[in-house]
Amino acid sequence: MIKKIAVKELQIGMRIERFDGGWLEHPFIFSRRTIKNEAEIARIREWGITHVYIEDGQDVEPEPAKPPPPPVVLERAAPEPGRIDWELKHVPISHELVHARKVREQATQAAKGIMASIQAGEKLETKEAEAAVKEMDDSLVHNKDALLLLMRLRKKDEYTFEHSVSVGVLLMAFARAMGFDQEATRNIGLGGLLHDVGKMAVPLGILNKPGALSEEEFRQIQQHVVKARKILLANHHMPPSVLQVAMEHHERFDGTGYPRGLTGEAISLGGRMASIVDVFDALTADRCYHKGLEQVEVLRKLYGWSKSHFDDGLVQLFIKCIGIYPPGTLVKLESGMLGVVVESTDKLLRPVVRLVYDTTQDWAVPQKDIDLSKPLDQGGSGDRIVGYESAKLWRINPLKVLGLS
Ligand SMILES: [Fe+2]
Repeated sequence: MIKKIAVKELQIGMRIERFDGGWLEHPFIFSRRTIKNEAEIARIREWGITHVYIEDGQDVEPEPAKPPPPPVVLERAAPEPGRIDWELKHVPISHELVHARKVREQATQAAKGIMASIQAGEKLETKEAEAAVKEMDDSLVHNKDALLLLMRLRKKDEYTFEHSVSVGVLLMAFARAMGFDQEATRNIGLGGLLHDVGKMAVPLGILNKPGALSEEEFRQIQQHVVKARKILLANHHMPPSVLQVAMEHHERFDGTGYPRGLTGEAISLGGRMASIVDVFDALTADRCYHKGLEQVEVLRKLYGWSKSHFDDGLVQLFIKCIGIYPPGTLVKLESGMLGVVVESTDKLLRPVVRLVYDTTQDWAVPQKDIDLSKPLDQGGSGDRIVGYESAKLWRINPLKVLGLS
């Protein structure tokens, strides 16, 4: 039986079924969880959650003696399943950006090399891609926001390669946040890098056609997932999750996708995750047939589609992983200040923001970072985000503000 109790009655060993309130009102990626220590109870209290629903009639274990704190190490084990490991931030974003730029370049070169060798009819060789995936994973563990922020830097004519890298980065950040272990995270990242290899077997004229596609042209584009299977299976050591990502990233939860029209959980977890991140990245990029949308807008669209095309639970987890206001977003604060999101904090709606403009006075202000998650008595500003703003309308270049372009 499910029972509602006050947070002050929570004890170690109790199994929470859900929190009182919406999914945005707590930092955990999954609501369902067994309380393991006092710190977890304190964290729930800190979020201002007053009541939770628990499974009644369970044995409550006494609190074990506290072990000494573990030493801080950079290379950590996979995070506890079911929560975003916000502590995956051992390196300040300004430092990690230097490393992440090299990692992104390495991954882009690996993607280019693979595509070129497939076009030349050579056998798929993944050594360079695997090395790039390892570096991408290391960077995400250091500070996930660095690579996620760099995804916003796009070069014309590099879409296919940059999209492959971005899908790899997004899948790995998503996987880490969901508690995948290192091997599973890297496998799904490799799947992201390779998910569109089949496109190398589709004529370029059709791939980049700006206008509407004929039925036959659309059929040829759809063939890229089938062709990917053949290319990937030629490498006998390919992990199954790579194949799932490549074969199922165009399947849709409601059965409207291709190539097999699979529905619900008949689509693998990797396939369902990949379908979300593939659309997220594609819609944020400028293409010959559409202008790229702001990440916040795409997250809203994904949320809107989460009752049909996508697994709604996974969409919520993805939004939590990326952030309601992802790094690089221009936001307006209650005070009337405009700022660019620098990085996430453990409070989804309260990231670190770089102030740039005062709309009440209509002038630019000296740039200054404020951590909106900090309470007033710890040096916080007491300000809060009221919404996102169009950087184009305000003629503000968020990447320039962050020193990236
Ligand atoms: Fe695709």
